[in-house]
Amino acid sequence: MLSQAVKLRIELLGLNPLDLDPVLLDNTDYHIELYQQKLSVFNKKDKHHVFVDFQSKQLQFRSQAHLNAELVIKAVLGKKKQPTTIMDCTAGFGKDAYLLSLTGSQIIAYESNPLMCALLKDGLNRAGIESITLHKKDALQNIIKTTCEVIYIDPMYPASKKSAKNNKQMTFLQSFVGHQGQMAEDLFEQAKLSKAKKIVIKRPVKADYVCNKKPTSQVIGKAARFDVYAQ
Ligand SMILES: C[S@@+](CC[C@H](N)C(=O)[O-])C[C@H]1O[C@@H](n2cnc3c(N)ncnc32)[C@H](O)[C@@H]1O
Repeated sequence: MLSQAVKLRIELLGLNPLDLDPVLLDNTDYHIELYQQKLSVFNKKDKHHVFVDFQSKQLQFRSQAHLNAELVIKAVLGKKKQPTTIMDCTAGFGKDAYLLSLTGSQIIAYESNPLMCALLKDGLNRAGIESITLHKKDALQNIIKTTCEVIYIDPMYPASKKSAKNNKQMTFLQSFVGHQGQMAEDLFEQAKLSKAKKIVIKRPVKADYVCNKKPTSQVIGKAARFDVYAQ
């Protein structure tokens, strides 16, 4: 059951509280509440709140002195780092979208999970971020007709024990979204049919290429790599 305050907050975000019921019913270890004025999901087992916070120390550290070292920026914007328009097909907690938006780029983001979308919309609203437009939709339905220059895809992967243990946000995503089988392939196939100039896919470092297609270039880090396809 959602509290009146939570229902009101969700409605203020332009979302329907009823959309969240089936998602929460599937996962009774969690419930949704307002925590320090943030729309949050509380994990009853480990007593942890999950929410979107663009003012967090970690994100502020990454976004200030170290912005140009971010691999996602290197991959999406390339060497010239010219601001561009980006379709983020897999918004999640909005971290990649946020870092990209700090370069002056405009982001059209999609998030299909209603609960994740509510958390992210709440975070964007609280931070007053206008350079990210978030749609509660499946990106697959919109990708072909995008007018963005770059399509960015960061799909869900099977949980690794290490990532789930160390990262509460990852645990949350694994509980509520989980591994989505063919999603990376489906998004990539659709993206190739679009007029975007570049497609960037985030992958685990040792994963195969999506659809076995060799990228034009790669940006490789310790925890992830970015496969870049010029079109
Ligand atoms: C690994 S997370 C993305 C994390 C994100 N890049 C960040 O910086 O926080 C993947 C997210 O994409 C969403 N997603 C997966 N397939 C999608 C689709 N076809 N359309 C919209 N959202 C999708 C999932 O619900 C999940 O929240």
